[in-house]
Amino acid sequence: MIMRILLLICLVAFIGSENLKAQDFKYVGAQKCKMCHNKPATGGQHAQWLNTKHSKAMESLNAEEAKDPKCLKCHSTAGSVSPDQIATLKIEEGVSCESCHGPGSAYFPNAVMKSREESMAKGLIMPTKEVCVKCHNEESEYYKGFNFEEATAIITHPNPAK
Ligand code: HEC
Ligand code: HEC
Ligand code: HEC
Ligand code: HEC
Repeated sequence: MIMRILLLICLVAFIGSENLKAQDFKYVGAQKCKMCHNKPATGGQHAQWLNTKHSKAMESLNAEEAKDPKCLKCHSTAGSVSPDQIATLKIEEGVSCESCHGPGSAYFPNAVMKSREESMAKGLIMPTKEVCVKCHNEESEYYKGFNFEEATAIITHPNPAK
């Protein structure tokens, strides 16, 4: 009897924690980030991203490939996560902000974003090489090696006000 109760408690705790995660951190898409991260004075991150191939990654795929999960998992943020984690993210965004910075539903409110610590507790990621090499690796037919420092310099979008 005690074993059964213990098992039940474990099961409920397990399911509970799973639900919390899925529900707390969903993918909202670049349009949401644009509201606050498109001002030139603070770096215009959205416009910077539009200038990189990440935002155009879906344009490299033909109509058939654009439906192929094998290509989508690297060419689109939406294609790289499970459908139940998607709130307002769109496939056409290609490699969107949240592929590098984590799902934004819990950290995007201004009150949270103002604190890096709180944002990171709610899913914000400041990406390291490990994040990039999930896609930049030999599985890609077009892989031409990856140097984190050089690659980051190409896609960088710093906030000059900081
Ligand atoms: C309501 C406004 C708002 C929205 C929406 C928003 N942010 Fe922010 N964000 C801020 C503010 C304010 C800061 C703190 C000042 C700064 O670093 O620019 C910040 C900081 C950041 C930082 C830097 C953190 C640090 O400590 O260096 C990242 C990365 C970031 N936001 C990513 C995102 C992403 C990705 C989205 C969309 C999912 C998003 N933000 C949506 C307001 C917002
Ligand atoms: C979700 C997969 C994914 C992640 C994560 C990712 N990339 Fe990419 N990246 C791509 C794809 C796909 C392309 C090529 C897009 C195309 O040409 O269609 C690309 C292209 C690039 C390019 C060429 C950009 C240009 O405009 O010339 C650079 C540089 C780059 N990535 C750097 C990075 C860095 C640095 C990170 C980590 C901080 C990173 N990438 C994370 C998928 C990803
Ligand atoms: C493991 C991740 C990954 C997968 C899977 C993937 N790609 Fe890519 N793809 C990339 C990256 C990263 C780049 C950018 C090249 C680089 O810098 O390595 C890229 C670049 C490309 C390019 C642009 C090449 C150029 O030089 O302009 C095309 C076209 C492309 N991929 C098509 C596809 C197709 C079609 C599929 C599915 C069969 C696919 N990719 C699957 C990661 C991937
Ligand atoms: C391919 C990965 C990648 C994508 C996509 C990406 N970022 Fe970043 N972002 C980074 C990296 C790496 C840094 C930290 C290094 C740097 O650029 O200084 C960063 C830094 C930031 C910062 C902090 C800048 C500062 O100096 O405080 C903000 C804000 C930010 N990103 C917002 C965004 C938003 C908004 C989008 C989408 C419109 C986005 N990022 C898309 C990789 C990415």
